[in-house]
Amino acid sequence: MSVQVYANLGGVEESATLGMTRLAAELKAADLPVISLSAGEPDFATPGFIAEAGIEAIRDGQTHYPPAAGLAPLRAEVAAYLSQECGGAYTPEQVLVTVGAKQALFNAIFTLFGPGNRIVIPAPYWVSYPPIARLARAVPVILETTAADGFKPDPDRVAALFRSGARGLVLNSPSNPSGAVLSGAELDRLVAIAAKYDAWIISDEIYHAIVYNTEHASVAARARDYERVVLVNGFSKAFAMTGWRVGYAVGPREVIAAMTRLQGHINTNTALPCQYAALAALSEREPRQRAIEEMVLAFNRRRDLLLKGVAAIPGLTPYPPDGAFYLWIDAGRWCDSLGANSTGLCMDLLDNERLALVPGEAFGADRFIRLSFAATEEALTEALERLADASVRLGLR
Ligand SMILES: Cc1ncc(COP(=O)(O)O)c(C=O)c1O
Repeated sequence: MSVQVYANLGGVEESATLGMTRLAAELKAADLPVISLSAGEPDFATPGFIAEAGIEAIRDGQTHYPPAAGLAPLRAEVAAYLSQECGGAYTPEQVLVTVGAKQALFNAIFTLFGPGNRIVIPAPYWVSYPPIARLARAVPVILETTAADGFKPDPDRVAALFRSGARGLVLNSPSNPSGAVLSGAELDRLVAIAAKYDAWIISDEIYHAIVYNTEHASVAARARDYERVVLVNGFSKAFAMTGWRVGYAVGPREVIAAMTRLQGHINTNTALPCQYAALAALSEREPRQRAIEEMVLAFNRRRDLLLKGVAAIPGLTPYPPDGAFYLWIDAGRWCDSLGANSTGLCMDLLDNERLALVPGEAFGADRFIRLSFAATEEALTEALERLADASVRLGLR
């Protein structure tokens, strides 16, 4: 059946990461030996004490409508967590609980920007930022970054874009896909520039707890005197809770109130038992720290395994990530050899090596590929072997 899709959805395509994960799942269902390193999803189970809290909430009859802004004790716990872990000073009224960080980003961008507003999005970017901006009828202004700059936005170029009228900046540190982590000083500089031009900063810190040999600097601690900041975070990555769908946004009271009104007409909030599980994740400090430490240790081992393995494969240049769980790889020589862009290359790897990776094109950097290391060491070792096979097949040395 052909249906008319209204202009509201114009140009919004399937998420490339979800699309590649879906293709890999289809091949797996047909019994093909696919290794999928495309999903941004920790392969660990949700820690037991968190899952139990969700189950207990269901048994206790916490199965009714949640408040649109989120469960009051969870909002209070998020404010407390941000002060302990990120150096923020927020009240519970400044916290909105959402259906994952994705909805927090949508609500923030939809609330703060409208038709024609320009939003600076440094590339490589997480796949959903430009479509969300477009859904708000805003205009994503893509700011390229380079390996030489550590894939971090050049402050002078950000300033120039604000000067020419851009009203917002999306930051993502640690970054998906590059793994770049902004230092406190780098964040200070960007906040000062935004303040000079009265621009909004949307800071997506969903990978805040997953860093390697470095510290996460949060906008919560860096923008105390500057109000036009919305911090987005959630439980999916640090707590292995992707399917529970709990995230949050923190910002000025009036903005949070407006985002709550929007949410009240769309989905009310995320499921109440999930909010109780999230509450346990934040309030039980010791088991939380232990669970995170174990996961980060495992990610760190896999990161080292992959970095070493990929660096030894001809034609691929991996960039060591300081955070998150992705390896960002310059595969330009492979693209040239195949005569294809990064999407063509990833389709070739899926067809011929049964290896699912995400093309850099989806992140606004077409000669790169992204490999998720949220997978077992066995799967990663096998993936390295398949990449080595591909390098021979593509004639690289
Ligand atoms: C940078 C970034 N922001 C937001 C999200 C969305 O997370 P959630 O599962 O909380 O909606 C993701 C998920 O992949 C992500 O990588």
